[in-house]
Amino acid sequence: MFEIIRRDGLARIGKFTTRAGVLETPALLPVVNPKIFTVTPRELHEEFGFEALITNSYIIRSSEDLRKRAQSEGLRTLLDFPGIVMTDSGTFQSHMYGEVEVTNEEIIEFQKSIGSDIGTVLDIFTEPFWTKSETAASIDVTLERTEYAASVKDEMMIAGVVQGSVYPDLREMCARRMRSMDIDVHPIGGVVPLMEQYRYEELVDVIISSKKGLSPDRPVHLFGAGHPMILSLAVLLGCDMFDSASYAKFARDDRIMFIDGTYRLEDMLSLDCKCPACIGHTLETLKALSKDERTRTIARHNLYEITKELALIRRYILEGRLWELAEQRCRAHPELLGALRKLGEHGEFLERHEPLSRDGAMFYTGTETRNRPVFRRYRERLKERYIPFTRKAALFPEAGRPYGRHYAEDFRRVRSSGFTPVVLSPFGPVPAELDEIYPLAQSLFPGITDAETDACVKDAVSLIREKGYEEIIDMNSVTDGNEIFDPLLERALAVARYQFGAEAAAAMFSGRMEFVTSRNTGKIRNVISNGEHILSMRAGDGLFSLRIEGAERMIASVPGEHMRVVVSDDAIPFVSEGRNVFCAFVKECDPEIRPMEEVLAVNGNGKLLAVGRAMLVRDEMLSFKKGIAVKVRDGVGKV
Ligand code: GUN
Ligand code: ZN
Repeated sequence: MFEIIRRDGLARIGKFTTRAGVLETPALLPVVNPKIFTVTPRELHEEFGFEALITNSYIIRSSEDLRKRAQSEGLRTLLDFPGIVMTDSGTFQSHMYGEVEVTNEEIIEFQKSIGSDIGTVLDIFTEPFWTKSETAASIDVTLERTEYAASVKDEMMIAGVVQGSVYPDLREMCARRMRSMDIDVHPIGGVVPLMEQYRYEELVDVIISSKKGLSPDRPVHLFGAGHPMILSLAVLLGCDMFDSASYAKFARDDRIMFIDGTYRLEDMLSLDCKCPACIGHTLETLKALSKDERTRTIARHNLYEITKELALIRRYILEGRLWELAEQRCRAHPELLGALRKLGEHGEFLERHEPLSRDGAMFYTGTETRNRPVFRRYRERLKERYIPFTRKAALFPEAGRPYGRHYAEDFRRVRSSGFTPVVLSPFGPVPAELDEIYPLAQSLFPGITDAETDACVKDAVSLIREKGYEEIIDMNSVTDGNEIFDPLLERALAVARYQFGAEAAAAMFSGRMEFVTSRNTGKIRNVISNGEHILSMRAGDGLFSLRIEGAERMIASVPGEHMRVVVSDDAIPFVSEGRNVFCAFVKECDPEIRPMEEVLAVNGNGKLLAVGRAMLVRDEMLSFKKGIAVKVRDGVGKV
């Protein structure tokens, strides 16, 4: 059972419940070689706090001594590890050495017999150099073996590996065909060669295509990924679990992992690490240790480097800033930078999972920031949902945000002459009415612009032309006029259209409109229509919270699924009284809903029960068995 606690786009903090305990994700499982403990499993648990590890059932089975002990004592006793034990199947050995002498049936049965908590199918490792037909044929075998494993698993959880080499359509197909199987976790396999060869751009395609096919209620494990420098990007793309053998393998070769790469001890000029393993050491004292002591010290350092990065990733997810961490990390290596750029090719999928807004400002850290889904979303909604209030536009250069504060007097003058003020911003054209919404006002760009930003600003002029203005001129060419206009009404209506669509906004903005503003800032607080409070504007992101009265108007005039989450009958009394909607009680949902978007909880007949914010997208709401789908703000009361 897997539950999402917090999310930031595709990244998630989750709880994976197993019979041996709960694993908090994102998590890394250190690989333990059952023949040599570089760091003992007990130390991994007690000193480093690892709740789960992974070991190899094929290696155990191949050694008579280990096999007998594992079968009589069980893995947990054999390893002396009190946490969750996952086992791999021998697939990696077949990738390394050719054949393995075991069948899928045998290795599944063996993993069960030694008390593995999560056993792995004997999947076929799809090499990056394989042809498409070769890959497709082997996936059929992997799927058959996976289906079999799931059917005989009993108390053991099953890891069903997604294969497909570098073919995105095969990856997605393989992942999709496992949806109907009773599988508990999905490793993405066959990626070790890509990582060894720094082919991170292809890795991005592999992860995203696998994610597209997989059921979102199962954790995703990136098989063989254990270098701290790749973790933030992989988590950003929705990977929940990792494993690392390299902490020990590298240590045996005197190679030290740092967040920006791996360094050979002999090439290093100083040791500037203060982790518990390195503290007290200089480069010289570390080099002077015996081979075994040195290996152990470096392995422990490597583990500290990994756990430190995972803790940081977790904090950035909680803060809603994981994109920024990934952008920093991906500057450590040109191929990682390529991977970051590759995200630009997956804009649609990323945007679907991107929250409507986040706490705190968006930092522009370079041209790759343009791949962030907020850029795409703003331009799309501007195109589809923004309706000009005038026939003419006056163009303003980028300035301090929000623009309406910086240009207060100029905006008034221009608008009074029948021109809409439009700022040529790094996001594209920003009409005055939208200048306070996320991320337009909540973002920071460097004062010195780059070529891509300059091009975007130039392009903003052509985007604003598409809006059908009769005249577009420079702000300085506009003199004062005497047109009467209501800036509060125009702002509120433009934001409502941006957030809910034009039809829903029209339904809400009818009759006599009043606006309650903040005495301190003059910003809109509440929107009142015919005496009914329909919307409240949030100071943080400049977007609306929907009130029951506003939602009722939307229901009455916009038919269909628009912004609706349909709740099953058993939950109706709870939801209508203001309790949250849990995933288990979601019957249907508008596929266009984004995380953190305002939604209407309705019954099967479309009658309003409550208003709140969506925590998940449709596919997630429908597949998760646990967790909150809609955080309800207000219910309609007893029904
Ligand atoms: N370890 C690293 N890659 C793989 C893989 O593709 N399959 C399995 N079972 N184990 C792995
Ligand atoms: Zn260290």
